[in-house]
Formats: sequence, C-alpha cells, structure tokens
Amino acid sequence: MKQLIIINGPNLNLLGKREPEMYGNETFEDYLKTLQSKFKDINIDYYQSNIEGELIDKLQDIGFSYDGIILNAAAYTHTSVGIGDAVKAINTPVVEVHISNTFSREEFRHQSYISPHTKGVILGFGLLSYDLAIESFIL
Ligand code: DQA
Repeated sequence: MKQLIIINGPNLNLLGKREPEMYGNETFEDYLKTLQSKFKDINIDYYQSNIEGELIDKLQDIGFSYDGIILNAAAYTHTSVGIGDAVKAINTPVVEVHISNTFSREEFRHQSYISPHTKGVILGFGLLSYDLAIESFIL
C-alpha cells in the first residue's frame, strides 16, 4: 500500500476557526477523515506543527521511506530556507499545497522557498488542493 503523509505548518491547526472566508469552515481533522475514506487504497498519515524545527525533523524522519509528502508549510513557505533545504535533502517526492491562491494575495506570499525542490505545486482550490495532490501520487 502506498504510504503518504500530509504535513501542515503553522496556524493550520486552526482551520475551521481561522479566517473562514479564506480557509473554509471545516477542521482539518474532519477533512482528513473524508480523504482517508475517499482514498481507501492509500495510507495517509497526518502531522501538524507550528514549529519550524519540528517540521524539519518530521521531513527528515519520513523523507527516506514514504512514497510521497503533501506539504503545506503555511507561512514558513515564504520565509524558511531551512524547510526548503530539508525538502531538497530528502528522497521522497514532495507536492506543495496551499488552500488559498497565494499569487492573488499579498506580494510576500508570492515567494516560496519550497517550490524549487518539489515535484509540483497545487494551490487555490481550497481543501480540494489536498485531494488533487494525493491524486498526483496515484497517476
Ligand atoms: C497557506 C497560504 C500561506 O500564505 C499562509 O501563511 C497560510 C496558509 C494556504 O494554505 O493558503 O498559513 O499556506
């Protein structure tokens, strides 16, 4: 069975409560259940942290054994050379996702330290961005 992991960065633990007009009304824990029942033939793990170093530790831990990583590094996308380096260092392919279309938002969100090291980027489709990223590992 394929082994994927979704890794969410800072403030994504507040999905459902945080700026619902931007990020929706659903918690990620609820949405994860939808994903797990939709993709029954794939093992989908989940990890969330608000701490940059913990995200790097997780990428290092699983980045040589899993089949794919779906990474929404949230605000760290735009600031973290360290997370970008970790994505570059590991073997497991990473698909970067964002719930919102970061290119239609403030200019500082147009920069990603992660994208250059990923297999691809999916953004702007709300939580469906995660479905599309999972699909990309099935093709
Ligand atoms: C986000 C976009 C980031 O710019 C922002 O800091 C987030 C969420 C998204 O999923 O749309 O926290 O990654």
